[in-house]
Amino acid sequence: MRAKITIDKNNIIDKIDRRIYGSFIEHLGRAVYEGIYDPEHKDADEMGFRKDVIDLVKALNVPIVRYPGGNFVSGYNWEDGIGDKSKRPRKLDLAWLSLETNQVGIDEFQEWASRVGSEIMMAVNLGTRGPDEARSLIEYCNGKTDTYYANLRRQNGFEKPFDIKLWCLGNEMDGDWQICHKTAEEYGRVATETAKVLKWVDSSIELVACGSSDPNMPTFGEWERVVLNHTYDYVDYLSMHCYYGNKAQNTADFLARAEDMDRFIKTTAKICDEIKEKKNSNKTINLSFDEWNVWYRTKDEEKTIEKWQIAPALLEEKYNFEDALLVGCMLITLQNNCDRVKIACLAQLINVIAPIMTEKNGGAWKQTIFYPYMLSSLYGNGATLNTEVEVGSYKSKEGWDIPYLYTSTIYNEEKDEIVVFAVNRNLNEDISLEINGFDGYKLDKHLELYSDNLNETNDKDNERVKLTNRTIDDKSPINLKKHSWNMLTFKR
Ligand code: AHR
Repeated sequence: MRAKITIDKNNIIDKIDRRIYGSFIEHLGRAVYEGIYDPEHKDADEMGFRKDVIDLVKALNVPIVRYPGGNFVSGYNWEDGIGDKSKRPRKLDLAWLSLETNQVGIDEFQEWASRVGSEIMMAVNLGTRGPDEARSLIEYCNGKTDTYYANLRRQNGFEKPFDIKLWCLGNEMDGDWQICHKTAEEYGRVATETAKVLKWVDSSIELVACGSSDPNMPTFGEWERVVLNHTYDYVDYLSMHCYYGNKAQNTADFLARAEDMDRFIKTTAKICDEIKEKKNSNKTINLSFDEWNVWYRTKDEEKTIEKWQIAPALLEEKYNFEDALLVGCMLITLQNNCDRVKIACLAQLINVIAPIMTEKNGGAWKQTIFYPYMLSSLYGNGATLNTEVEVGSYKSKEGWDIPYLYTSTIYNEEKDEIVVFAVNRNLNEDISLEINGFDGYKLDKHLELYSDNLNETNDKDNERVKLTNRTIDDKSPINLKKHSWNMLTFKR
């Protein structure tokens, strides 16, 4: 089939905030222990961090990592994870019914983050705790004064403040699975008061208030309105979370979920603006899509496995090729909504619903979703352009028109390069792509992720789903294989 895209380099949506390529590490399953931290591993550095994992994370070029949860944060005492490791308490983690040894806490995590070149997006516990513990935590992390918590950090060996700039006010407080979940009114109040004390300790930070944990929550919309009514003047972003799955084994419909994500973003942005108008405010609340991914095979596992294990293998979703296609589409959605989405976190990064997997005493490897994430982060920088797409479409199960070609175009002024991300959602036919508005630019690179088998996976010994560098043939039209993810770069 044929498709045509038309751009105008001056017609931009907005500049991309690099933080949309963020990720997430929670104290959950084998993400921290056996994932980033394994002092007995042959590749461990002097702090116990796996160097092979550090290298893979660096390859992804992750600008921010959300930490320490997730559901975990709502029962977490941050003080358990600082100072002398031999004195740290072992505790029950009620979010995942596991045993937390606290051998990694903020002291270690900030070291790890600087080793991989990422900033931390720190979440505070607004479940079992509140403003008091949050203000102590930020003083510990960012304090420059001669005061108790700043001095405690110095005593623990960290003279320089961690200087964490981005903070989440709790996690998914609308969900009854959350430890001490709250009504929107209750959450709105505590989030406001916590926001005030955090910014009083450090006025240079930015804050994210919890939006709904899923667009299908019965309170979606109302939750956002009530929370923003309370917090509007005190916070900078509203969070969004969403995971998709293909339980019905209908690939065409699964790939259409990128449009659901798009509608979810636009609806949430509209609600933010509705409150802006109501408050007659000149401030815009933008969006932090701080949990997104494919996740359906390994849901609710914590309820069925043996309780109180240290680092049990939880949520180890094995991603196949079609999952990589949807992840690629979701990244396109984020890029095309860069005027409102300023932060986003692929949930998560290692072992737990993750692009990187590790084996205890063994290697580390890339899941299928690694590649669209890596290349979006490496090449998807600059301004997203409005892209006009002419292509045929199919119907989703809800009756939406789903164009076969899903695409974003990004102009990188610094490199004078135009980058097109394109997913061919036609499961039977290649697309012959015509381009318009690229005058003076020539196709320089065509990287493709393709497998004949939509269920193909990678494992530790065999990377079956990987990138192909397609040969550039100036004389023929650009070919996008049936069900493929592609990145095209154009240079002068
Ligand atoms: O990312 C896994 C879990 O999904 C997080 O802990 C929680 O916030 C969400 O429900």
